Amino acid sequence: KATADVRAEISYVMIKPDGVQRGLVGNIISRFENKGFQLKALKLFQTPKDVAEEHYKDLKEKPFYPKLVDYIISGPVVCMVWEGDGVVASARKMIGATRPLEAEPGTIRGDFAIQVGRNIVHGSDSPENGERETAIWFKEGELMSWDRTMTPWLV
Ligand code: TYD
Repeated sequence: KATADVRAEISYVMIKPDGVQRGLVGNIISRFENKGFQLKALKLFQTPKDVAEEHYKDLKEKPFYPKLVDYIISGPVVCMVWEGDGVVASARKMIGATRPLEAEPGTIRGDFAIQVGRNIVHGSDSPENGERETAIWFKEGELMSWDRTMTPWLV
């Protein structure tokens, strides 16, 4: 199949400080690996305030915005870019509803969270935001293209 010039969809997924502090990093990454999406970029990161503000700039007028920014910068986050067909919508399903009490069991928020202000994980809400957010959190050279099928595991 001629897919070489098709740019696959990407989602910016971030484990928020509460997810890191609670030791949920491995569990969350496993869900995306198990689903079949491909990891393009990954880092543990202490967020500067201006980066958190840029990421959430569409929510600037919301009453919860200052607390949201303070929460995001309160400790290290795990920044990731996942790639694959439909990854944006699929990641949102896997993450679950914004308010954890409304998130279905089996979703990340449904399984692990209670409070909207401590909802463990972020996922881009559109392919455009997947690109926009990736550009906020990662430099060009931090994204990897790699082949999952052709690598000889054992030589
Ligand atoms: P939003 O983009 O609406 O949700 P999502 O993260 O599911 O895309 O909101 C961004 C974050 O803002 C959300 O994850 C948690 C926080 N937030 C609050 O603290 N209080 C609120 O009432 C809402 C709607 C969001």
